[in-house]
Amino acid sequence: MGNQPDENGFYGSFGGAYVPEILYKCVTDLQQAYLPIIESESFKKEYHQLLKDYVGRPSPLYHARRMGEKYGCRLYLKREDLNHTGAHKINNTIGQILMARQMGKTRVIAETGAGQHGVATATVCALMGMQCEIFMGATDVERQHVNVERMRMLGATVHPVTTGNMTLSDACSQAIRDWCSHPQDTFYIVGSTMGPHPYPDIVARMQSVISEEIKWQLQEQVGRDYPDYLVACVGGGSNAAGTIYHYIEDERVGIYLAEAGGHGIDTDYTAATMHCGTEGIIHGSRTLVMQTDDGQIKEAFTISAGLDYPGIGPMHAQLARSGRTNILAINDDEAIYAGYELTRMEGVIPAIESAHAVAALAKMKFEPDDVVVLTVSGRGDKDVETFLKNKALAGEYGEF
Ligand SMILES: Cc1ncc(COP(=O)(O)O)c(C=O)c1O
Repeated sequence: MGNQPDENGFYGSFGGAYVPEILYKCVTDLQQAYLPIIESESFKKEYHQLLKDYVGRPSPLYHARRMGEKYGCRLYLKREDLNHTGAHKINNTIGQILMARQMGKTRVIAETGAGQHGVATATVCALMGMQCEIFMGATDVERQHVNVERMRMLGATVHPVTTGNMTLSDACSQAIRDWCSHPQDTFYIVGSTMGPHPYPDIVARMQSVISEEIKWQLQEQVGRDYPDYLVACVGGGSNAAGTIYHYIEDERVGIYLAEAGGHGIDTDYTAATMHCGTEGIIHGSRTLVMQTDDGQIKEAFTISAGLDYPGIGPMHAQLARSGRTNILAINDDEAIYAGYELTRMEGVIPAIESAHAVAALAKMKFEPDDVVVLTVSGRGDKDVETFLKNKALAGEYGEF
């Protein structure tokens, strides 16, 4: 299997578009419109221009010598944290806002967990002068309040969602409800490779710029355009999809993805969907879902708001099932430790989500010449309080 779904949006048996009747027209309109828009010369020109001049791409591929030495490999960090707004999410929102404008929509909605997708959406709405409404679980409004204030400053309305455990999954459900009430004028900018077809494909394509750049950056820096290993964290799967997009069919490249183990996959406090999930439908897509025996969605749990989701994008469900990707569950304490370690050894404070990818290094085995590219999906400014509150989990790095 490659990086593309079939014409109905299926990756193997995962994917599709399971939407209520009222959204059927919106979703089929988008299915018909998205490829002609993305493949048009005018879209490509404006999208790439904005990525360069507004987002600041290409993002650097940085040789992290000290961390590489510690883990016994040649480690390169793909620095999505250096993008405008501080994460990979803006690559996708730039593309989707151009689509929204092309389709004549005037109102934009989005869900957000860590707030990075909310900030990226509010940013592009400010840029294009569009009305912006963001749905965010009340738990996340509290733990990511800096991002909430950024969204408000950018002119967005933030709606705290108080259903369920008040995190990302509840925010998605509320965004879909809002979309059902405003199907005509509203464009839903989905923030990850999830949701009904064509969203997983749209988001993967928008993020594929990450692996497009890794190819030529590796060629320049190590003399070949592929690494031995790629490492990324997965919430819904967008930074991981972008990191692996152009390497999925290249068997020379090992792929390791880090999902959030929370307190551990053998506890009820986990967000490790690919370890603990079974087939089901969530937010318009057939995928792996953490659910009870009678099909009720279980609440996810992790220290990381951006990984706190009981589902996973259908592309990742299929890649994991086929054995193409290796999935590691990283617990909260391991992520906190890894976040401090990257900070102290390379001077890069990662987002708590990205720290899960960093923690994967300790669970992998390398030869000294192995080239490893790890995507730092976002910067850790939003997580400083979380790191400080949990510094007891940071082992030797927490002693100060
Ligand atoms: C910095 C960062 N990394 C990763 C993620 C997880 O999302 P995804 O799996 O779509 O990359 C988020 C989500 O909010 C995020 O903010």
